[in-house]
Amino acid sequence: MTQRELVEIVAAKQVVNEVDVGIHVVDSEGTTIIYNQKMAQIEGMNQNDVLYKRLVDVFSFHKNEDSTLLQVLKTGDPLKNEKQTYYNNRGLEITTINNTTPIMDGHKQIGAMEIARDITKIEKLMRDNINRRGDTHYTFDSIIGDSTVISEVIEASKRATRTSSSVLIIGDTGTGKELFAQSIHYESSRSSAPFISQNCAALPDGLIEGILFGTKKGGFTGAVDRPGLFEQAEGGTLLLDEINSVNPSLQAKLLRVIQEKVVRRVGDTKDKKVNVRIIATMNEDPVDAISEGRLRKDLFYRLSVVTLFIPPLRKRKEDIKDLAYAFMQKYNYLFGMDVKRIDDKVLLTFLEYDWPGNVRELEHMIEGALNAITYEDAISYNHLPMHFRKKISSNSSITQLNSHAIELTEIQPLDKYMEDAETLYLKNVLERYSYNITKSAKALGMSRQNLQYRLKKYGIQKPR
Ligand SMILES: Nc1ncnc2c1ncn2[C@@H]1O[C@H](COP(=O)(O)OP(=O)(O)OP(=O)(O)O)[C@@H](O)[C@H]1O
Ligand SMILES: [Mg+2]
Repeated sequence: MTQRELVEIVAAKQVVNEVDVGIHVVDSEGTTIIYNQKMAQIEGMNQNDVLYKRLVDVFSFHKNEDSTLLQVLKTGDPLKNEKQTYYNNRGLEITTINNTTPIMDGHKQIGAMEIARDITKIEKLMRDNINRRGDTHYTFDSIIGDSTVISEVIEASKRATRTSSSVLIIGDTGTGKELFAQSIHYESSRSSAPFISQNCAALPDGLIEGILFGTKKGGFTGAVDRPGLFEQAEGGTLLLDEINSVNPSLQAKLLRVIQEKVVRRVGDTKDKKVNVRIIATMNEDPVDAISEGRLRKDLFYRLSVVTLFIPPLRKRKEDIKDLAYAFMQKYNYLFGMDVKRIDDKVLLTFLEYDWPGNVRELEHMIEGALNAITYEDAISYNHLPMHFRKKISSNSSITQLNSHAIELTEIQPLDKYMEDAETLYLKNVLERYSYNITKSAKALGMSRQNLQYRLKKYGIQKPR
């Protein structure tokens, strides 16, 4: 072997062990030849437990499912972004997204190679990135829902993009206040200037002034020259989240900045002109906040030139289905999955629920459900988190359908409700009789024809 070939081989081995993706190579017999450190980490194995052993002796796969490596060995066709869930020799469940390709020596296939990504990690990376850069850049296109109430808020927000007037957004936690604030900014003429968002509740009183208005060197011990968020947002938009948590004396200073369009850094004696649009949010009724002294009336009047009330999710249940499907797509993409449907029972349960955490809670619910899915192509009731199922089962009409105790929490058109309820009830009965039509019809006190007719009408089929 020449020196050069030696370096090539040694370096290749080193590279394989240092990359951040799992690499697994088998020969034509299905015996592992290369198995890198990352792959061992993903699969919870030691490299030596896998190297030079037959893959089927180490890992186990679901019934009727072959390992992607063995599939490629068999067919010679590459697989791209294939999601696979399987188990190591200690029963640990592993889910990866794989790119698997045949290894050819001329025309002869001599093995297969797999590059695997651990999807839990990718999901986390994506999220960290989004958070760190803070540039998710929502626009009105990101806003899902066409209920009358949300459409009205969207319309009012779009009108607000034409001016630089202050906007006050009022809504419970998770209703989409940030989403609306960003949409207004990115669709206004300020879109190429910064959008800066600051949660006022997260800052201690002593710091907030310096952060908003900046500090001047020597102004107080240790102070440096630093622009505040008003200056940093020059030409753009400053989102002041939870304005009602700012103490009233600072609210007075904020009012001055907004009115006079000048800031004075802490410790400075000179004012500086600023051109910033203010969007403020709060998660309580301003009338309460004012009467209880948390919000200055004069600041409220100044901010509320445009006031947007974002209704809680329980007041716009028509939007739930669209939102749930949109989040399913989002997390399909993030997790590299391909879940296609959400079961009727799940959607019905969603309609019954109150959603105290609003859209964010729904998003987390779908994300959690996708994490609970292994290979099914629909989100079903069992994929919902336990704490949610418990909550629902204690007060839901849906789970009480069998006892006819239908208890409405929210009004919807009667025929829609009846259809949903009937569909669910029929499914439950059919399930109990293993989809035997004669028995189910008898239990329901109807003719077979009548039952068949209803199954067709509601598109109910025996699950395969
Ligand atoms: N109408 C909507 N369409 C699509 N996604 C939405 C919608 N409303 C909210 N979301 C999503 O829900 C999550 C929470 O929204 P957002 O952060 O805007 O809420 P918020 O009102 O600012 O909450 P908080 O008061 O807790 O700060 C985000 O991931 C957002 O993208
Ligand atoms: Mg927010």
